[in-house]
Amino acid sequence: MLYFTTTSKGVRYVALFLLIIAFGFLYRTTNIDHSVQLCILNVKAQSCEYMDNIKNNTDRPENINTVNTNPVAILRKGNGIIFVETTDRMKPPSLVLCAIESAARVYRDRPVVFFMKGLADINLVNDEPEGRKIFPTLSYLDNVYFLPLKMDEVFRDTPLLPWYIKISPKKEQHWIHVSSDGCRLALIWKHGGIYMDTDIISLRPIPNANFLAAQSSQFSSNGIFGLSPHHNFSWRSMDNFVQNYNGTKWGHQGPQLFTRVLNQECMIPPFKSTEDVVCGNISFLNPQRFYPIPYPSWRRYYEAWQEFPTFNDSYALHLWNYMNQEQKSIIPGSKTLIDQLYKQYCPSTYEALQRNESIHL
Ligand SMILES: *[C@@H]1O[C@H](CO)[C@@H](O)[C@H](O)[C@H]1NC(C)=O
Ligand SMILES: *[C@@H]1O[C@H](CO)[C@@H](O)[C@H](O)[C@H]1NC(C)=O
Ligand SMILES: *[C@@H]1O[C@H](CO)[C@@H](O)[C@H](O)[C@H]1NC(C)=O
Ligand SMILES: *[C@@H]1O[C@H](CO)[C@@H](O)[C@H](O)[C@H]1NC(C)=O
Ligand SMILES: *[C@@H]1O[C@H](CO)[C@@H](O)[C@H](O)[C@H]1NC(C)=O
Ligand SMILES: *[C@@H]1O[C@H](CO)[C@@H](O)[C@H](O)[C@H]1NC(C)=O
Repeated sequence: MLYFTTTSKGVRYVALFLLIIAFGFLYRTTNIDHSVQLCILNVKAQSCEYMDNIKNNTDRPENINTVNTNPVAILRKGNGIIFVETTDRMKPPSLVLCAIESAARVYRDRPVVFFMKGLADINLVNDEPEGRKIFPTLSYLDNVYFLPLKMDEVFRDTPLLPWYIKISPKKEQHWIHVSSDGCRLALIWKHGGIYMDTDIISLRPIPNANFLAAQSSQFSSNGIFGLSPHHNFSWRSMDNFVQNYNGTKWGHQGPQLFTRVLNQECMIPPFKSTEDVVCGNISFLNPQRFYPIPYPSWRRYYEAWQEFPTFNDSYALHLWNYMNQEQKSIIPGSKTLIDQLYKQYCPSTYEALQRNESIHL
């Protein structure tokens, strides 16, 4: 590990050397994974201590498998921030980059992992330069990781696996959403930490480890939540997901699921003011924490405000992107609320937009 705390240039050479060794293996082993090159995608980060293992044990292929449990290694402290992309797109809109950048800045000492379905299908040779090309604005953050989202692995050993095996994604009306609802539960069950939708801008750290977010009184969101690894709530939610599955009802496996499961345990009182409520060891956080602008008003984010709101009662802002059928987007310099939020909370993404870099708006 000491090896990797030298200059970043040195790190790159060491990584290159290790990559060459790793390639040696790939010719000899058939069952390869992306973890080796994904580590190189983020050479500055702590996951690369696992590269040490390869180097030290170049003649024992079984060690490659140890290395391949990469999400487990990166998220082993149970405090990661998890984002999920269930489409194959590899060029996320700037809002996704802003969500990741702002989270990585707020949670500087925690791993921020973006699980992308599109990465799972790319072969190892192409991945590394691809990753750097696509996300240069995030390369200054050494706590950001891009990992392939492999659903069969994600759902393994959870109540969701039989459902996943049985279902036919092509026939599902809302597969992108429903699979995302399932993945976030399984990932948080296994790794713990915080799940966030990719349209959430982080402002300051969330102090609670186990929490759900109220999107309105007595109604839970599943766009952001935090639970310790193997928390009962995740498991019960996965059970309930499968038992009451109805793929034609939007949100039935999402916010409505969380609300159902929460209600099994507690009577949730309506909020009186800006207080949070507690259910068992889960905090049900006031809508002010993430939804100070409720969804009917989502366009407010794209308007100019007389005065920039303080958002003092909020930890992060959910921008309700799914409401945004009009494809409203940030215009740098426009002085809209979203313009100011980008400038302050995801400056690198913002600067790239200002330079007209080819990020999708
Ligand atoms: C690999 O070698 C380095 C230095 O030679 C050592 O510090 C490290 O502990 C070794 N790692 C393992 C897993 O043996
Ligand atoms: C919270 O309660 C659940 C059971 O309801 C338990 O599995 C979990 O370990 C508890 N977590 C903490 C941090 O106490
Ligand atoms: C988890 O929840 C179930 C159902 O509510 C309960 O039977 C079980 O005892 C709980 N487990 C723990 C560890 O709290
Ligand atoms: C699923 O939801 C739809 C729409 O609400 C409803 O018409 C249908 O009966 C439901 N299916 C099942 C199996 O409950
Ligand atoms: C919000 O927080 C800032 C900085 O902590 C403080 O200066 C300001 O007075 C607060 N505003 C309100 C309305 O509480
Ligand atoms: C970026 O592009 C816009 C529209 O194409 C143009 O008006 C603006 O001058 C460009 N800015 C820079 C810095 O090139």
